[in-house]
This record gives sequence, C-alpha cells and structure tokens, in this order.
Amino acid sequence: MSNTFKALLVIQPEKKVFTRTIVERQIDDLPAGELLVLVHYSSLNFKDALSAMGNPGVTRNYPHTPGIDAAGEVLSCSDGSFVPGDQVIVTSYDLGMDTDGGFGQIIRVPSQWALKLPVGLSLRESMMLGTAGLTAALSIYEIEQGVVKPEDGPILVTGATGGVGSLAVAILAKAGYQVVAATGKMTEADYLKSIGAADVIERNDVTQGSERPMMKPLWAGVVDCVGGEMLAAAIKSTKPGGIVTCCGLVGSSDLSLNVFPFILRGVRLIGIDSAECPMTHRTEVWRNMATKWKLTALESMVEEVGLEGLEDKIQSMLKGGLKRRILVRLS
Ligand SMILES: NC(=O)c1ccc[n+]([C@@H]2O[C@H](COP(=O)([O-])OP(=O)(O)OC[C@H]3O[C@@H](n4cnc5c(N)ncnc54)[C@H](OP(=O)(O)O)[C@@H]3O)[C@@H](O)[C@H]2O)c1
Repeated sequence: MSNTFKALLVIQPEKKVFTRTIVERQIDDLPAGELLVLVHYSSLNFKDALSAMGNPGVTRNYPHTPGIDAAGEVLSCSDGSFVPGDQVIVTSYDLGMDTDGGFGQIIRVPSQWALKLPVGLSLRESMMLGTAGLTAALSIYEIEQGVVKPEDGPILVTGATGGVGSLAVAILAKAGYQVVAATGKMTEADYLKSIGAADVIERNDVTQGSERPMMKPLWAGVVDCVGGEMLAAAIKSTKPGGIVTCCGLVGSSDLSLNVFPFILRGVRLIGIDSAECPMTHRTEVWRNMATKWKLTALESMVEEVGLEGLEDKIQSMLKGGLKRRILVRLS
C-alpha cells in the first residue's frame, strides 16, 4: 500500500488568510487512531464550508483536511473492532473539525467513531445522506417518538433546499407526513414537490406577523434548519402539543421568543446534535434510513464532484446558493 494519498488541504499562509489546494499527503501525518479507512465517498456539509474558510468555531489547527463525513473500506484496525474490507460509515465526532476528515482518500480515527454500513445501503448512498441525512432522520425520529402522527397535520421544513432540509422533506414524505417546504428559492418549488413536498411556501411567509406574541397554529411539527426569526415564528405557529426540532443556524444563532407557545400550547422544542449522538441511537437511525425510510429519489437530490470540484461548491454553499446536496467522490 502506498504511504501517500490525495486530499484537499486548507492552509493558513498568513493571519486570517486561508487557502485550499489538493495535495499528496502522508499516512504518517494523520492523527493517531485504531482505524485506518480508504474513503470512497464523502459529502459537503455547512460545517465543512466553515472549516475550509478558517472558521475557528469549527477548526482551530491548520493545515487541515475538512470533511465531517466519510464512507469507505477498512484498511486496518488495531483493536479488532473491524476487519480489513469491512465497509464503514464515519460521521461527525471530531472528524473534519480538528481531526483530518473525509476530503482525503484516507482517514485515521478512533474505532468507536465508525459504524458498519447498514444492510440496504451502498457506500455511495450512505454519503448521499451523510450527516445531513443523519440530522434530518434524528429530527424525524424525535417527531415520531413524540407521537406526532401524519393525521395531526402538516410538518414544516425550513431551509428546504439545503442538505438537511431536502432530506427531511423526502424522509418525512416517505414516513407518510404531509410536508410544507419553506424556501428562499421558489424557482426550486417543482424540485421540492418531486422529492415529496405537498406544498412549497416562500421563506418570508413563515415569518410574516412574527412580531406578535403568538401566531395562527398551522404546524403539527417543524424541522428547522435556519434558527433566528424563522425558528421563533415556526414555534409561535405550531399547534398544541406539536414538536419543533432545531438543528441549524444558517439564518441566525439568536432566538428571540416568549414562553406562550410552551405554556399555552404545550409546544415542545427539541435540539438535535448529530455530532455527539450516542452510537446506539445513531445505528438505529441509520438502519431506519436503510429500510423503512430508504429513499428511491436520492440520485436526483445530489450532484457528484471530485476533490477538484469542491472549491466552487464551498463558495456556493456559503452564499446559500446550492440547489442540490454535494456528494464527493474520493476513489
Ligand atoms: N445540529 C446538527 O447536528 C447539525 C447537523 C448538520 C447540519 N447542521 C446545521 O444545519 C444547518 C443546515 O445545514 P445544511 O448542511 O443543510 O446547509 P445547506 O445545505 O447550506 O442548507 C441551508 C439552507 O438554508 C437556507 N438558507 C441559507 N441561508 C439562509 C438565510 N440567511 N436565511 C434563511 N434560510 C437560509 C437555504 O435554503 P432555502 O433557499 O431553501 O431556504 C439553504 O439551502 C446549518 O446551520 C448546519 O450547521 C446541524
């Protein structure tokens, strides 16, 4: 086996300046860990775009290879948890943050970060889903466990054309829910309907009237990827007993709210943390994505690029301009 592999490397040539190049890296330079994996696919997530731009809230040490998602084949495992040739998924924990990540052809990580590829998914399909799929599925798991049923009314998904949003639309529809997709890109309404949205609304329609203490109750549940005013408005418009999941901050990390939706309607707000989600829970949710929530339209939801195509996609993602999820081919 060669000791070198190809990777995207973010370097910091001077203070506050970060540049990205594709280089040959040495396996010996990877961090310590029991598990060495030949990465076949990764995917682009918002956190990767932040890491690639030098965001200290995501990555503190450069040079660095981002990529919070990786799926591939085990090359070696020093603690015997896996054998060479096992197909594994590694997402989140510290991968791609301060541990070199999936935008390299080889990763070395603690073996507890990996799970066996569930039966029913290929490595490629697993990264079409990636952390975005895991986050969407964790949100929907909470809605189901909170006993919000399809007959209780529509589920609102905000940031609907994004990675988490589009997969939430598709999985919710597969699970039998009526989905209302809120987007800033009404030109993508037909696409959102093609993946399962029953209705598509303009992002501002959600927030209209949000200065009021409470709004008309519309949603049995909400999968929010945006935060800020959008999340506050969604909570104020949730029906009694409804569940709102919160995973993202593309709009804002602030949340200006009163307690009325909670004490007068019993609305439940649930935070989603895919990064530190326990392995047992993670495994169950991945199994759902490989079985009862398996999506047939995944291929239409992604655009595939090699490492060379990543720079453009990172820039588009930071401008909120991506129309499809980005699958990254490493092999
Ligand atoms: N908590 C977790 O475990 C977890 C895991 C994964 C991701 N996340 C977070 O979830 C969020 C979404 O991630 P992603 O990977 O889906 O990102 P993404 O692919 O970039 O999608 C974000 C979407 O949000 C909408 N949007 C962008 N800027 C906006 C703005 N200023 N105001 C309102 N809407 C805006 C856009 O959709 P429309 O044009 O359709 O509105 C965009 O496509 C991010 O904040 C990410 O950090 C959290």
